[in-house]
Amino acid sequence: MKTTATLIVNGKSYELPIIEATDGNDAINISGLRRETGFITYDPGFRNTGGCMSAISYMDGEDGILRYRGIPIEQLAERSSFIETAYLLINGELPTSDELNRFSVLLNDHSLVHEDMRHFFERFPRGAHPMGMLASMVNTLRAFYPEIPERSEEDEINKTFARLLSKLRTLAAMSYRISMGLPVVYPSYFLSYCANFLNMMFDSTVRPYVIDDDMVNALNLFWILHADHEQNCSTSAVRLVGSARVNLYAAISAGISALWGPLHGGANQAVIEMLQAIHDSGGDTAPFIARAKDRNDPFRLMGFGHSIYKNYDPRGRIMKDMCHKLLARRNRNDPLLDIAKKLEEIALSDSYFTDNRLYPNVDFYSGIMLRNLGIPLDMFTVMFAIGRLPGWISQWKESREYIGAKLHRPRQVYRGYGERDYIPIHLRTANVREILKGKPITVKSPVFQSEDGSTAAVT
Ligand code: SDX
Repeated sequence: MKTTATLIVNGKSYELPIIEATDGNDAINISGLRRETGFITYDPGFRNTGGCMSAISYMDGEDGILRYRGIPIEQLAERSSFIETAYLLINGELPTSDELNRFSVLLNDHSLVHEDMRHFFERFPRGAHPMGMLASMVNTLRAFYPEIPERSEEDEINKTFARLLSKLRTLAAMSYRISMGLPVVYPSYFLSYCANFLNMMFDSTVRPYVIDDDMVNALNLFWILHADHEQNCSTSAVRLVGSARVNLYAAISAGISALWGPLHGGANQAVIEMLQAIHDSGGDTAPFIARAKDRNDPFRLMGFGHSIYKNYDPRGRIMKDMCHKLLARRNRNDPLLDIAKKLEEIALSDSYFTDNRLYPNVDFYSGIMLRNLGIPLDMFTVMFAIGRLPGWISQWKESREYIGAKLHRPRQVYRGYGERDYIPIHLRTANVREILKGKPITVKSPVFQSEDGSTAAVT
């Protein structure tokens, strides 16, 4: 295979090195492009640009493939647990039973949060969105717990990761309980990571929460499916903010904020709101499909389409199956699942969606799963954040370990005014601005048409 790509610009040719990938797209290394050619590249949304080399997860958008550290998501969904998957992502290998046990002990030992943090929750206005609270509280963890010094021992680093993994889950449950005016339920030594979360969310002294294995398994699966996904928007935020050498908590807080967006992690909540609106309007999907196809309408069919997957999102398929199993085991049916299946069938027989390769993504069915776990709607994206945390941590760790890691500082193509002079305020009248609008000023001392039509050179 060729080891360089040839670029010819202004009659001069340049050889750019090619970086070979293990799987997927090889890359043309343009890190010397501006120095050698005076040109930069333009790639809005970085859809064709690799900002890093990574060994954590791999996606093939054409064939609907997702692997964590080389292991297919289908195998992990079938055979692993969220904690084992978190260990795999962060450390690069599946843990031995001793390693997994030590990791679980660390998670348990660090599952409580400082009691003073409750006061922060109590100061949020009722109805504050849990994602905003979570982003703030994670940033606040730095005030209570040390960051990872530059040259830390591995044990110290692993303790910090376990602390954050465990406390984020506890903080999420606390945010819900306090927002409902309910007493906080503390984590229990006797429960697994997922069972503990459900218990912290729903246990009550007057109606003890009964741990249901089907629910715990469904939550394990939900978090495995969300654990990492290459350089998605929120992971890129963690890497970009992390490149300034901020502490881990601040970088993760940036990831939570990015995930909140309805085009990204906020889509699971938006899907349910869309399905509920279809249900409330009598179940007719036609108006929603029509709006989604109307290029003048900003409405999007939530849970459909993906920046990378131009085929069925493999996580969406697994999530859909789990929804059916969970509802069948609980002998329940969910009208929104029926609407979702109907919407999927209609959309996938419509050329607008098939031509644009818009298939259900992970969020299309995940909201139905969460609804049937009893999770309140405004906590859906928080659930995504808890699942994605191992991925963010592993990506942050990888970026810190990368030799020669640089501060992220993208360039731009400048399309504004050429150089122009400051205009004294008494001359900044509307017509002067109109006269000057869009006209790059070249003269050093521009001449203006003043209000009365006279002209005056500005000194
Ligand atoms: C996640 O990146 C990740 O990995 C993210 C994620 C993760 O695990 O981290 O997978 C999680 O964010 C999943 C996506 C959740 N978002 C949604 O479900 C919101 C609805 N989806 C869309 O907003 C959209 O599909 C995006 C934002 C996800 C992707 O947008 P793109 O990259 O613009 O999609 P595209 O280029 O493939 O679109 C092709 C055309 C475009 O029309 P034109 O501009 O060419 O006229 O299809 C249109 C799009 O506008 N289109 C849609 C649509 N998605 C794309 N039209 C209607 N409904 C949609 N859902």
